[in-house]
Amino acid sequence: MPFVNRYPSVDHLHQLAKRRLPKFSYDYVDGGTGPEVGRNRNRDAIEAIELVPRYLTKWCEPNIETELFGRRYAAPFGISPMGLASLQWPEAELHFARAGCAANIPVTLSTACTVEMEEFARLAGDCAWFQLYPPKDEAVSDDLIKRAGDCGISAMFVTVDVPARGWQPRDMYNGLSVPPRLTPATIWNAAIRPKWSVATLASGMPHFKTLGRYSNDKSMRGMADFVSDQLGRPVTTERLKRIRDKWTGDLILKGVMHAADAEAAIEIGYNGILVSNHGGRQLDAAPSSIEVLPDIVSAVGDRATGMIDSGFSNGLDVVKAFALGAKFVFCGRAFMWGVSAMGSKGPGHVAELMADEVKTTLVQVGCPKLSDLNESWLWAPDPGNRPSLRRSGRTY
Ligand SMILES: Cc1cc2nc3c(=O)[nH]c(=O)nc-3n(C[C@H](O)[C@H](O)[C@H](O)COP(=O)(O)O)c2cc1C
Repeated sequence: MPFVNRYPSVDHLHQLAKRRLPKFSYDYVDGGTGPEVGRNRNRDAIEAIELVPRYLTKWCEPNIETELFGRRYAAPFGISPMGLASLQWPEAELHFARAGCAANIPVTLSTACTVEMEEFARLAGDCAWFQLYPPKDEAVSDDLIKRAGDCGISAMFVTVDVPARGWQPRDMYNGLSVPPRLTPATIWNAAIRPKWSVATLASGMPHFKTLGRYSNDKSMRGMADFVSDQLGRPVTTERLKRIRDKWTGDLILKGVMHAADAEAAIEIGYNGILVSNHGGRQLDAAPSSIEVLPDIVSAVGDRATGMIDSGFSNGLDVVKAFALGAKFVFCGRAFMWGVSAMGSKGPGHVAELMADEVKTTLVQVGCPKLSDLNESWLWAPDPGNRPSLRRSGRTY
């Protein structure tokens, strides 16, 4: 049976991943912060958007190639950075890198990755992006930026929405830690997922390879303690300036939920803004990123490229984001479900599925060009209230 019939949607991959992964590993990806209202709000808000099709438009084949920072990508979406990805499947980030390169979409490596940045960049080619959590030690931060430049990475996210570690009850309950704590519960959870356990044991326990090398203590525990001490603190505008001075490539502020943060970043010289609530993993009371998108892209105008992530899991979602003003969409969990369910073949399959869904949706709505989409495709009870979802008075 062809892949597309066996796994016709990211939801199918998600269900399969749930059956394949130990509970602690599945929960790490699936979970949000606190009571997880915010994580669900992301999906609810996207799903509540309705698009009005136009059938009597001039037909032409949709072209979903998208230009971003002067480079043409094959599709309007990319892979978000996700730390500790090898907990889902060995060397997950390298599978993302290969898939991103083959599909010609941006693929981002997290500071908290479990592979070496240089190997990732070699495999991802000119689709490689890096995400910086500015570490406490500025010398470490400077070196990471230098390494990213040296290995040919052209674009970098600076994540600001982790001023403190997220409060993630599922991980706390499961006793998730690096290296894993061997309790009867974790051993049992791994034992009943033999495919994952055999693959993970064969490849070795995941640890923070790119950042851990700066730790004096090279034991797994020592490196994990170092990483946790370096990350998860507020980022100041002075720090953002320093990063701007050191990095010559495209620079995107990740985790923007307020127009004032976008303004501050643009003033410093950042040329991209990623509207994101970290997939509902930081502040549970944060609005969904799609709700704040229209206000932020209108504040940003053409001074920077406005992009979005958090809750996007299919091509239809991507089209909705473009109708609301996004210029690019990033997806995290969708690709993680791909690698968790299908191993090395998963991320490429997700990219293909999503690209096909974007094309089909464009045909369905009667708008062959992504760049022609705008709020006039959105259904709202009172058209005078467009484009802001919040102002439309609808409830999500
Ligand atoms: C398991 C996991 C780990 C993550 N790790 C990071 C990270 O290291 N750095 C970062 O900037 N964002 C991280 N994020 C947030 C993603 O980059 C992205 O903003 C979020 O996943 C988007 O929401 P989605 O998963 O609904 O697509 C992580 C998300 C997940 C699910």
